[in-house]
Parts: sequence; structure tokens; C-alpha cells
Amino acid sequence: MPNKINIAIDGHSSCGKGTLAKNIAKELGYMFIDSGAMYRAVTLYLLENEISLDEVEQNPGLLLDIDIDFRLDPMKGFYNTFLNGESVEGEIRGMRVSKWVSEVSAVKQIREFLVNKQKHMGAEKGVVMDGRDIGTVVFPDAELKIFMTAEPMVRAKRRYLELKSNNVAADLQEIYENVLHRDRFDSTREISPLMQAPDAIVLNNTEMTREEQARIALTWAKGVIMAS
Ligand code: DC
Repeated sequence: MPNKINIAIDGHSSCGKGTLAKNIAKELGYMFIDSGAMYRAVTLYLLENEISLDEVEQNPGLLLDIDIDFRLDPMKGFYNTFLNGESVEGEIRGMRVSKWVSEVSAVKQIREFLVNKQKHMGAEKGVVMDGRDIGTVVFPDAELKIFMTAEPMVRAKRRYLELKSNNVAADLQEIYENVLHRDRFDSTREISPLMQAPDAIVLNNTEMTREEQARIALTWAKGVIMAS
């Protein structure tokens, strides 16, 4: 059996990191972890419980009431996000959460709480995790790091179609502005800003199909696994 590796996939919002990570994980029989879903689940929890970011900063112990896990949906073959035992996969993708999640993910105490969990999840290797700081902070020793990007309007259109296909109300202009806002916010925040790790390989998929990008990334992954 070849050695298992960890694969870190970082990049701008809505550029297909999740889709790519899921495909690689499925193909290699690895666990897929969507770290953005964890920030989204925390955002939903704070909104539902009317807890402000100031309160979290003053009392980070409040976060200990949050349990996040991923469970395999046998019908789809993919993992769904659960918050305190309830599936929140649909809810965390809507605009209510999208509008707040960048601010929530800029809070030091929240990042520490989730980064800790994420490091734990990757301790045994065999994980494909996507996010913003996976190659730089969560798995700085990941054997393969991919940094993804694509044109902002192309990303907005993809997210729009994804929401529509999940029957979530969507407005293309609003999504485009949200994509630009999150790019700016994620790249300029003080703690763990979105940054390309020096040893990451760039994948710009503006003009690629999902199949093309999956094929390229899988070739990279198999190459690294063979060599490790
Ligand atoms: O990947 P996504 O769009 O679902 O992520 C939602 C937000 O969470 C995004 O605005 C940035 C933040 N995030 C982060 O700060 N660090 C991560 N590892 C993953 C996501």
C-alpha cells in the first residue's frame, strides 16, 4: 500500500476548490474536509443563537458548545456538514451565512478553535482539505499544495448556478459583489490571510472544465504519492 498524504487546496472563494477536493478524495479513497463549511457552520450557530463576535472574543468558551462533523451521504457519495447533530448543508450555503462568514472567520478565537480541530482531522493523513490557510497554517507540511484561482465573474456565475440547482434564491449581481468583498476581506485580514504557500502549485481554472482540472490535479497527486 502506498503511503497516504495530505492534500491542501487553497484559493479564492467560489473557484471550485470543494468540487476538486471532493473528486480527488473520492478517487483516492481519502477523507474530504471542507474547512469553509466549518466557518459557515460557526456563522450559522452565532446567528441562530444571537451571539455577537464581541461576546465570542470576550468569552471564547462559548465555542465549546459547537460540534461540527461531516457525514457521508450514501446516495450522493459525498459528505454533508452537521452542526450539533443536525444537517446544515443547505442552510450554510445561502446568502444569510455568506454575508457574515468573512467577518466571523477573521476572529482570532474562532480561527484557533477551528484550526485545532482541522489539524486533528489530518493527523492520520489521507485527507484532502480545502480552504484559505490549509497549506500555510493547518497543514504546512502537506505533501501536495494546490492554489486555485479563476476570474471573479466566472466564479460568481458558477456559484449562482450551484445555488439555483439547489433551489436556493440567488441574484447574480449580489453574488458577484459578495465574491469581490470576500476576496478583498480574505486577502487583507490580519490573521491567516488568504495566501499562496511558496511550495503550492497554481491552478487557474477560468477556462477549464471540472473534468480537466480534476485530471490535472489527480496526476499531480498520484505523482506525489508514488514518490513518497
Ligand atoms: O470556501 P468558502 O467560501 O465556503 O469559505 C467561507 C468563508 O470562510 C470565506 O469567506 C473565508 C473563510 N475561510 C477561512 O477563512 N479559512 C478557511 N480555511 C476556509 C474558509
